[in-house]
Amino acid sequence: MSNPSEAGLIHMFQGIRFTTKSSPELLKSLDTFDAREDDVLLVSYPKSGTHWLAGVITKICSTQFIITSPIEFGDVSKLEELNKVSSKRIIPTHLDYNMLPPNFKKNKCKIIYISRNPKDTAVSMYHYYRNNPNLPTIDTWTAFFDLFLKGDVVCGSWFDHFLSWEEHANEKNVLFLFYEDMKKDLPKIVKEISLFLGLNTSDNDIQHISTMSSFSEMKNNTEKENSNPSHTVCALTSNRELIFRKGTVGDWKNHFTPKQNQRFEEIFNEKMKFSKMAKKITYEL
Ligand code: A3P
Repeated sequence: MSNPSEAGLIHMFQGIRFTTKSSPELLKSLDTFDAREDDVLLVSYPKSGTHWLAGVITKICSTQFIITSPIEFGDVSKLEELNKVSSKRIIPTHLDYNMLPPNFKKNKCKIIYISRNPKDTAVSMYHYYRNNPNLPTIDTWTAFFDLFLKGDVVCGSWFDHFLSWEEHANEKNVLFLFYEDMKKDLPKIVKEISLFLGLNTSDNDIQHISTMSSFSEMKNNTEKENSNPSHTVCALTSNRELIFRKGTVGDWKNHFTPKQNQRFEEIFNEKMKFSKMAKKITYEL
């Protein structure tokens, strides 16, 4: 059940919190969505680098594809709207695997999943909750920390989301990326994405795309990145001003107390004990 401070902003669907920007009718109708074989999904838990990845992908292939707004963002007219898109579509989503429209699975659509270490994700989400009027008010980091661990936040539990997608990480049509790897060596990841999409991007272009996708470039170009201000790749806001905060690895150290860190580690180790991908997560560079 959602709590009183969430009234009017949050509703529950299949046990997961959504903002009212995702209407229950739309969520109910997702099962009927007509996926196309050449659709590409850009999947993330919130605050994992969705906009960064979308920025990179736009630069790699904007002549072949357009990035739509998230499939779960809007009301029931959304499916109709996406149906009308005539070019090849890159469709963002924060849905976990179990809620993904079955036609994407049947068509074996390409899927790019971006993940970020959950401590930095939690911190980033905390600030997002504080600044985003579409999300409930949170008074303290301590309060948010508990909600995050319980999965009582929008899009549900980080752990469940990651695990639901990890099960498919080795499928041929899935590319599983980490935010921290993008920070470490962006050109390498740009190349990987380009190959995955079947494109031939020159080394020069890869370098240029990487330079133009740095945190400072993207932050400075917020308005220019998409000429339509209501276009969004995040189902939680269309205000890009809220996205580019710090863009670093390890900001969790400025928020977590030693006790919180210990509790986090205990829960992480328990929940992720069978996860191979979890072993690849890095918390500092
Ligand atoms: P912080 O809040 O830690 O700064 P999403 O796009 O999924 O909402 O994720 C937002 C997070 O990605 C924010 O993290 C934001 O600063 C970071 N981010 C956005 N663009 C980035 C870039 N070009 N390089 C590094 N981090 C970026």
